[in-house]
Amino acid sequence: MMVQMAKAPKYTPENLINDVRAGLFAGHDTTSHSLSFAMGELALNPQVLQKAREKIDPVIKQGLSIESLKKLVYVEAIFRETMRLHPVASQLSIVAKRDTSIGANFVPADTAIRLNLTLAGLDSDMYAQPEAFYPERWLDAKENGGKEPTLLGFSLGAHYCLGAPLAILEATVILSLLIYHFDWDLINGRSSLEQLGQNITVFPQDGMPLRFQLR
Ligand code: HEM
Repeated sequence: MMVQMAKAPKYTPENLINDVRAGLFAGHDTTSHSLSFAMGELALNPQVLQKAREKIDPVIKQGLSIESLKKLVYVEAIFRETMRLHPVASQLSIVAKRDTSIGANFVPADTAIRLNLTLAGLDSDMYAQPEAFYPERWLDAKENGGKEPTLLGFSLGAHYCLGAPLAILEATVILSLLIYHFDWDLINGRSSLEQLGQNITVFPQDGMPLRFQLR
């Protein structure tokens, strides 16, 4: 894609370098930090890990393929649930281009708005029992108090994440293989999910050390 772009006359070396850096950043830290949080949540929720294993074991024994990956919807739901509780792009900034309103609030043109996805992920109007790590809500609205949940972690609208399908595919493959091959626990316990650092994306301050054992 970058090679094709480089051929376009509008590209200067500066803006090509900028786009390469944006692409590398957008596609790397986001996915790897989200995977860390998923591993932490699985360590804290053994019943979810057990259910994931029941789904994954027969699929991996037969060999992972594009077709068999479609059977791993529960793993994808684990990743979505992780992104709800631990949105690594936790704050998004937008500017209203024209007068508009959000709910009952009038927003004049040129107003800067900061969206807090961490708080949005805990909205009990959208997610039943929002504090619970409950992947099932993404598979059946009945499991979410009858409401279809919305995934906000990739943003919405015109700037919806370009790499969302790739991130979900990568996460499903990596999590499935880790769950299939290993048991693990959190060396620092729950605090790894609570003590956070942030550059642009949010990450576990301690790097989330895990102790792995082959199954
Ligand atoms: C779990 C992983 C990921 C998360 C949480 C994530 C999150 C986001 C969010 C919230 C935005 C909107 C930013 C804004 O409007 O200010 C965004 C945009 C974007 N993402 Fe991702 N992303 C992920 C993975 C990826 C991957 C794997 C790629 C590329 C391979 C990628 C490429 C992009 C690009 C190019 C944009 C800009 C889209 C635009 O402005 O039109 N992202 N991402």
